[in-house]
Amino acid sequence: MSKIAYLNSKFINFKNAKIHIEDRGLQFSDSVYEVVPFYNKKLIDFKFHIKRLNYSIKELQINYAIKENKLEKIFNRIILLSKLKNGLVYLQLTRGIQSRDHVFKKNLRPNLIIYAINRKLNLPDNNNFKGEKAITFNDLRWKRRDIKSVSLLGNVLAKNAAAKKNAYEAILIDNGIVTEATASNVWIVKKNKLITHPTNTDILKGITRQSIKKLVQSNSLKLVEKCFTLKEMYAADEVFITSSGNFVTPIIKIDYKKINGGKIGKITLKLANLYMNLFRNE
Ligand code: PDD
Repeated sequence: MSKIAYLNSKFINFKNAKIHIEDRGLQFSDSVYEVVPFYNKKLIDFKFHIKRLNYSIKELQINYAIKENKLEKIFNRIILLSKLKNGLVYLQLTRGIQSRDHVFKKNLRPNLIIYAINRKLNLPDNNNFKGEKAITFNDLRWKRRDIKSVSLLGNVLAKNAAAKKNAYEAILIDNGIVTEATASNVWIVKKNKLITHPTNTDILKGITRQSIKKLVQSNSLKLVEKCFTLKEMYAADEVFITSSGNFVTPIIKIDYKKINGGKIGKITLKLANLYMNLFRNE
């Protein structure tokens, strides 16, 4: 695989893509990011990811105007140059370079980093599509989880606790409420009804979540966006998580509790297939 990165208007060798030690992304996590999946070299939901990126930029008052068409060309070019078929495009935009000061200067020049990552996407017709284990973990993060910032230590610690227990994800609990997982949104099914956390500042407004929500509605399934407790999740008929790249991933065991007897649930599988068909049939 040729490793190529895009850094501030140039496509360069990955090894030569370097950032200054006083970049605010490095010193303060003063930086936002996006992860966009591609299948058969075609980007999935690009426009929605850019819309969310714009939101993160605006909320952090970063001085950057996105040119969506130009960015789409760069994304497609990086996929081509990286010679990848399926995977993820990672973008990070830092506020820029400044001698260390909590107060940011207004007119810094942001650093834009883009590269493609090879990834086998989690689709229901893959041989390795299976139900996964999760643990629960205290949600240690800050109070603006709606902003996709690279300030991810709460997520990193939780996901490492999961890895130590051979679990795939850590589901985060804030005062007894299930918020989301370290890199995905969480859904439960109870009596044929889907339940997921409402979009507010407590969770990231997932792009996959948004697509699944449309599928739920167009397939006459019932959806309630409301907070649910850890106890309700343990008692759920089905649990699954959604994210770019992992799409719809069934969760069949949480801590010591088996969900649906440790088997993938019917509604989870149906949604995983419906979601896959959205871009498979294009
Ligand atoms: N994470 N919640 C959190 C905390 C996330 O980090 C993510 C995605 C999601 C799902 O969002 P989306 O459907 O737009 O991918 C929810 C990415 C994939 C990551 O950090 O790698």
